[in-house]
Amino acid sequence: MRDMPQSKDILAWYDRHARDMPWRVSPADRRAGKRPDPYAVWLSEVMLQQTTVAAVRGYFHRFTLRWPTVSDLAAAEDTQVMAEWAGLGYYARARNLLKCARTVVADYGGRFPDSADKLADLPGIGPYTAAAIAAIAFDRPATVVDGNVERVMARLFDVVTPLPTAKRELTQLAEALTPQDRPGDYAQAVMDLGATICTPRNPACGICPWRAPCQARAAGTAPDLPRKLPK
Ligand code: ADE
Repeated sequence: MRDMPQSKDILAWYDRHARDMPWRVSPADRRAGKRPDPYAVWLSEVMLQQTTVAAVRGYFHRFTLRWPTVSDLAAAEDTQVMAEWAGLGYYARARNLLKCARTVVADYGGRFPDSADKLADLPGIGPYTAAAIAAIAFDRPATVVDGNVERVMARLFDVVTPLPTAKRELTQLAEALTPQDRPGDYAQAVMDLGATICTPRNPACGICPWRAPCQARAAGTAPDLPRKLPK
């Protein structure tokens, strides 16, 4: 039996290779006790729902300069927010963004709730985004499963069942690996691994922190996973 992948191996990799993003706290600041701002985490996650990190950076910067807190955003004019969102697309996200900000102010005194369940009740926050905010902003051991995580799990455990049938199995595998220690960094570490090393094509298995326990690497199937049923 091959060793189980260890969260400590990917966390150590993340400490050295985390992508620098304006809504993140650097590993050094984190060790000094700094926590991410839930407003910044929420705003970035909503922007990233259908948009790349590269496209989101500028928008995130302008939003947080203009509306530094959720209370500032809640007090904004709808037309101003829609204008600042222009170009990001999927405009229902911007309308829900405002609704959510106003709900956080009206129902929670301007502080985001810290559990995935409560977060998922807010406008524009689905199960994925709720888990991401709970993990990243509040260090709750919520399991975040996006396309990157599915690919990493399919390869680690050589899951040959195609998506979407494999979704449940991949989610369970991801849940089993989620650590109690640093779950927020862990979630972002798996995202970064999927974006930079465990990429859809030409994965860089030779420098992967999980190369030893990876079953697809051993089987030579990594580039072919996950399999997908034709749409
Ligand atoms: N995609 C969605 N959320 C992300 C995050 N926090 N870091 C990197 N990529 C992401």
